[in-house]
Amino acid sequence: MPHSSLLLGQTLSFDSDPFQGLPEDAATWRRRGGVLVAGGKITDLGEADDLRARHPQAKVFDYGDGLITAGFIDAHAHYPQTAIIASWGKRLIEWLNTYTFPEEMKFGDADYARETAKRYFDLILSNGTTTVASYCTIHPESVEAFFAQALARDLRVVAGKTVMDRNAPDGLRDTAQSGYDDSKRLLDAWHGRGRISYAITPRFSPTSTPEQLTAMGALWAENPDCLMQTHLSEQVDEVAWVADLFPDARDYLDSYEQFGLLGPGALYGHAIYLTEREKSRIKEVDASLIHCPTSNMFIGSGLFDMAGLKADGQRIGLATDTGGGSSFSMLRTMAAAYEVGQLRGTALHPAQLYWLATVGSAKALRMNDKIGNLAVGSEADLVVLDLASTPAIAQRSAQAEGFWQALFPTIMMGDDRAISNVWVNGAPLP
Ligand code: GUN
Ligand code: ZN
Repeated sequence: MPHSSLLLGQTLSFDSDPFQGLPEDAATWRRRGGVLVAGGKITDLGEADDLRARHPQAKVFDYGDGLITAGFIDAHAHYPQTAIIASWGKRLIEWLNTYTFPEEMKFGDADYARETAKRYFDLILSNGTTTVASYCTIHPESVEAFFAQALARDLRVVAGKTVMDRNAPDGLRDTAQSGYDDSKRLLDAWHGRGRISYAITPRFSPTSTPEQLTAMGALWAENPDCLMQTHLSEQVDEVAWVADLFPDARDYLDSYEQFGLLGPGALYGHAIYLTEREKSRIKEVDASLIHCPTSNMFIGSGLFDMAGLKADGQRIGLATDTGGGSSFSMLRTMAAAYEVGQLRGTALHPAQLYWLATVGSAKALRMNDKIGNLAVGSEADLVVLDLASTPAIAQRSAQAEGFWQALFPTIMMGDDRAISNVWVNGAPLP
């Protein structure tokens, strides 16, 4: 019989989408539940006492009042922007030119890339994020560094070499051919190794020529099981720039669609200023939209229409977009999604917020059969939350009527102090 671990505490899992029907009906919460883990997978779930009786040999990890859930999934981030998070005063294009591009220039240095990747994974794991879909830079070294760290830590990750062959400074451009060749070599070397997935990564249409977008479309057609990640309709000025750069395109989405960069497995970050045609095409092909609320407020981009897009049946994940986003924490990101919802007139329920950061992001990455929920057969990437991690949160949750009220102050005010334990692929982090 394989060695197994039994985690005990409060448990939360999702049975359905909390945007359909009553949010609280979508989840199963146990006051005293358990999660059995063996061989890196969740192998049993239920009431703590039943699990103890069924699995007397299991090693018990009793987390008391801690809340055990799936680890958080950050569906869009830029690990090379770790060091420039919280850079003051610019909107998107100026922010890229002033802060982002000079920092990304450093990632041709393999040592710098390695040190940043290490720091980045330390930061996200301490915040309870067990899977991320990250951009790298144009440098293959930046991709190697990221995947090597992910492999060493046994993490399920998505990433790819960012390609850019125009509107970026000297030293931060590849070409249509070298972008294709480097991406293909990295994809062949890393995709499917450990729990690594390669994502084809054209930064956004302003920084690629039609030739480069064509090459990326071809690479995706040759590797249809890969995801493709990019940015879409983040700021009004950016949308106007795309219209100038691609006069034949019907809209921003068409600057991807024309080149084979629309399909299931496409991840579009931001997606704030969508036309009706764009929404219906994205829905039709079942591509994913990624909501980046701290970034959209920090860079001054706008308010994502969660309620409307979910009502239309769009596939939506949640993300930090660090370093345009201002936090590595998916708790802070859920809080920002709540605030954006309020500004648009819809109060997202804590079940909806938590679902977005776990199951929603997993579905957006098409990995919900593997991660994002407490489910038998899922990979055991888990977090244990302390729902009284600060005096302010503790006094509020002590007043709570019911589980969702007890969770909500941690969503709104929690940070890495609320993350008491993290499990990766069936093993607890030290
Ligand atoms: N659009 C193109 N590149 C980026 C980036 O690095 N961050 C954000 N927020 N938007 C982008
Ligand atoms: Zn981004």
